[in-house]
Amino acid sequence: MGLPQPAFYIFKCEQSSPPGMPKPSCVSPQTQDLFQHLAQTLMQKGIIGTVQPIRSACLNRCNAGPVMLVEPGHTMYTGLDKQKIDRIIDEHIIGGVPVAEYIIPDELWDEPITPKDMMTQMGR
Ligand code: FES
Repeated sequence: MGLPQPAFYIFKCEQSSPPGMPKPSCVSPQTQDLFQHLAQTLMQKGIIGTVQPIRSACLNRCNAGPVMLVEPGHTMYTGLDKQKIDRIIDEHIIGGVPVAEYIIPDELWDEPITPKDMMTQMGR
């Protein structure tokens, strides 16, 4: 039997704006410990071996931050805090049911354009 692949990857945006920048970002003094909370909670539950948290660069939904993307499923969660992360771990990662109320709204997360279609649109 081979080495099992992770059941989930969780990409937590860890981008912070330079001090004084008006642009919103996912990491501020108030939200800087969310990745640590995510990783610690997965560790405490004993599932970090099959759920891999990843520190990500900007995921391009800065106004909705703090955000994280759960794969597989392409599920983007927004406006995170520690309580929301706990619920996502319990209900989505362990329970298998995404937490609908924290998922990004459709107008910010419409269907993807395939790379092939994008190349066609650009006349390539
Ligand atoms: S800074 Fe997190 S999505 Fe851009």
